[in-house]
Amino acid sequence: MEQDILLQMVGISKSFPGVKALDNVSLNVHGGTVHALMGENGAGKSTLMKCLFGIYGKDSGHIYLEGKEIDFKSSREALDNGVAMVHQELNQALKRSVMDNIWLGRYPTVMGGLAVNEKKMYKDTMAVFEELDIKVDPYRIMSTMPVSQRQMVEIAKAVSYNSKVIVFDEPTSSLTEEEVEHLFKIINMLRDRGVGIIYISHKMAEIKRISDYITVMRDGQWIATERAADLEMNDIIRLMVGRELTNQFPPKTNVPGDVYLKVDGLTGMYNQLRDVSFYARRGEILGLAGLDSSGRTETLESIFGIRTRKEGIISLNDQPCFNRSAGESIKNGFALLTEERRATGIFGVLDIKANTVISSLKRHLRFGLYLSEKTQREDTQHYIDAMHTKTPSQETKIRSLSGGNQQKVIIGRWLLTEPEVLLLDEPTRGIDVGAKYEIYQLILDLAHKGKTVIMVSSEMPELLGVCDRIVVMSGGRVAGEVDARNTTQEEIMTLAAKYV
Ligand SMILES: Nc1ncnc2c1ncn2[C@@H]1O[C@H](COP(=O)(O)OP(=O)(O)OP(=O)(O)O)[C@@H](O)[C@H]1O
Ligand SMILES: [Mg+2]
Repeated sequence: MEQDILLQMVGISKSFPGVKALDNVSLNVHGGTVHALMGENGAGKSTLMKCLFGIYGKDSGHIYLEGKEIDFKSSREALDNGVAMVHQELNQALKRSVMDNIWLGRYPTVMGGLAVNEKKMYKDTMAVFEELDIKVDPYRIMSTMPVSQRQMVEIAKAVSYNSKVIVFDEPTSSLTEEEVEHLFKIINMLRDRGVGIIYISHKMAEIKRISDYITVMRDGQWIATERAADLEMNDIIRLMVGRELTNQFPPKTNVPGDVYLKVDGLTGMYNQLRDVSFYARRGEILGLAGLDSSGRTETLESIFGIRTRKEGIISLNDQPCFNRSAGESIKNGFALLTEERRATGIFGVLDIKANTVISSLKRHLRFGLYLSEKTQREDTQHYIDAMHTKTPSQETKIRSLSGGNQQKVIIGRWLLTEPEVLLLDEPTRGIDVGAKYEIYQLILDLAHKGKTVIMVSSEMPELLGVCDRIVVMSGGRVAGEVDARNTTQEEIMTLAAKYV
């Protein structure tokens, strides 16, 4: 039930060196509602929330919680006063247990504070997990869990503070479909309790489903706030990018040539993959479709040699190539853009340029002696321009870019290696609607040059719009293959359910 205004942010401004990240932004959130915050990569969504949560100090403006002015100086203070945030980038103590992570900094103690009361901590953790229906062992060490489960722990932590306002900053980017449903249940429960929820996501379908209000930001400014029911998808996109987006996909002009890559009888160590076989041509974009845990990511990882194969032959031009490790695969002309690129691919303290060229330094070597500064700059600028990466300069440290813009830099890094076979795992995850087009264009450009691209995506329209052929996986096996030009979402869904 919608209640009065719970959180009021008025005229918030915030600058970083060279960037006006927020310019006089206001936001009202009612209790018992989900308020979506939308905008292109770098629009200022995370920054606005970090100003609320005490991570950044705002330059000007006022924030009121239940009518009382607040100005948190730390996230600790925010949490203690009823504001919690699930971050876009997870920042957890990976070597410690699940319950340590939840109670860090507020351990229940015994003997007048001399020792941690582990029994109580366990009981309290279980109580939260039961309430939220989360099935995770409180003693488990964080680093041994998949990212999606770590994300659920983070969500449990936010709820455990009994917060009045909870911010979810792209919470679903690493969740499976089932986990997303679970999260939505939790969010609906919180809404029923009167919590004010701020929800950031680039996934339109999610936004339409979960939100009551939508606020759109652009270039650090407030653009509009409307009831979600009153906005169509196209309205949201137009408000976000500031113009009509006529084409979602660039015209497909690549012409696939001879068969180049063959994958034959790929079988995993633990039966996650069984007898997976397919081929891909030069100049072709091959899609891998399927439900979560159908083996798509495992297939890419097995081809790239970072997952052990029990059986299976990979060949290029009918010559077997063993790809026993990432190093060997790279030598054989393969590159892999992983799903978890933010966790695994970013050198935070290095600048944009270093992060872009780090995997293709050979291109810049002159006489085997020194690295050409000029070509490094040119290549870096090429990808900044091509994807409209929002950054003050090439020398900006990558960690100060917005989440989506960090992704663009990493995508540029792998495109720059000009691999013969490019493996892409969910390439547009976390990327705003406008910038997706530019990434599709870059993928097409590679196909034009005769490169082979294999792309995993959970977004069916994206597979249909970009690929030539689509191999559909189900339960670790190949369920079928379709021509992307004359197939339907229904046909693909039917195949995807074949061995489930
Ligand atoms: N710590 C920082 N130092 C310097 N600049 C920053 C910092 N944090 C954010 N910015 C800049 O502020 C702007 C807004 O970034 P923000 O992270 O709020 O974007 P966002 O809307 O969350 O985008 P995304 O959808 O990509 O997550 C960007 O131009 C970003 O580079
Ligand atoms: Mg962000």
